Amino acid sequence: MDQYRVFGNPIKQSRSPFIHQKFAEQTNEQLNYQSEYVEIGEFAQAVQHLISVGGKGANVTAPFKEEAMALCDKLTERAKLAGAVNTLSFVNGEVWGDTTDGDGLVNDLLANDVVLKNKKILLLGAGGAAKGVILPLLEQSPAQLVVANRTVSKAEAIIQQYPKHPITCCSFEEVTDHKFDVIINATSAGLNGQALPISEEVIQQNVTCYDMTYGKTLTPFLQLAKQRNAVKLIDGLGMLVGQAAVSFAIWRNTQPETKQVLALLREEILK
Ligand code: ATR
Repeated sequence: MDQYRVFGNPIKQSRSPFIHQKFAEQTNEQLNYQSEYVEIGEFAQAVQHLISVGGKGANVTAPFKEEAMALCDKLTERAKLAGAVNTLSFVNGEVWGDTTDGDGLVNDLLANDVVLKNKKILLLGAGGAAKGVILPLLEQSPAQLVVANRTVSKAEAIIQQYPKHPITCCSFEEVTDHKFDVIINATSAGLNGQALPISEEVIQQNVTCYDMTYGKTLTPFLQLAKQRNAVKLIDGLGMLVGQAAVSFAIWRNTQPETKQVLALLREEILK
C-alpha cells in the first residue's frame, strides 16, 4: 500500500492521519498515512527513510517546513514565496515541494460564502503562517490586502515580494481603517494566551473574522469579534481540512470532498 507520513515535532496532536484516512475511504484510494515524530536535526534522514521504503509523499509541520523546502529538487511558485513547504511528493527519484495552506484557507473562506474579489482584507501577522497564504489570497483579486504585524520590518520584507499587487503593510497601531471586509488572524498570540493589540473599532459588524487557529471554544480573536458583532466568525479547522484536501489531490489526482470530513473532525475535537 502507498505510504504517506506527516512529520513534526511535536506530532501527537496532529489530526492529519484522521483527515487523510477519511479522504481515502471517501475516494476509495488505497493508502497508509501515519504521523511520525522526528527529532530535531533528523528531518532529512526521516525523509530519506520514507523514500527508501517506497513512500509516495509526506506532509510537513512545525518546525520542519523551512528545512523541507531546502531539500526539494523542485518547488512551486507559491512554496518559494511562502519560504516553506508542507507537502512533499516523491517523483522519479526527486523530491517535489508545495505549500497547500493558502489554498486551504481560500477554499474554506469560499466554502463559507466569503467574497474576496474586490474586498479589503486585513491579515494580522507576518510569520510563517501569514507568509504561506498571501499569494493565494492575492490570486482572488482583492481590492487591497493589508499585512499588519507587531514587527513591521517583517511585514515590509514580505510585501516587497509582491510588487505588482495591491498589498501594503503597517503596525497594529496604524490599523485605523474601519472598513475591512475580512480580517484574518495569522498570529500565534492567542495560542500563547496573549491579546492582540488591535483596536476594537477595526472589527465592525459587516466584517468576516477568520482565525487560523482553532480550539474547543472560540479563540480569543473570535471572542473579540463576537463581542463586536462581526457578521461571520470562522476558525481554522476548515483550513486544516482544506490544506489536507489539496495535498491529497496532489498525491492521488482526485479531489476529496471536505464538508463531511470537517463535520466529523469537529465532533472529534469536541470529544
Ligand atoms: P507561525 O508559523 O505560527 O506564523 P511565527 O513564524 O513564529 O509562527 O510567527 C508568529 C506571528 O505571530 C508573528 O507575526 C508574530 O509577530 P512578530 O513578527 O512581531 O514576532 C505574531 N505574534 C506572536 N505573539 C504575538 C503577540 N503577543 N502580539 C502580536 N503578535 C504576536
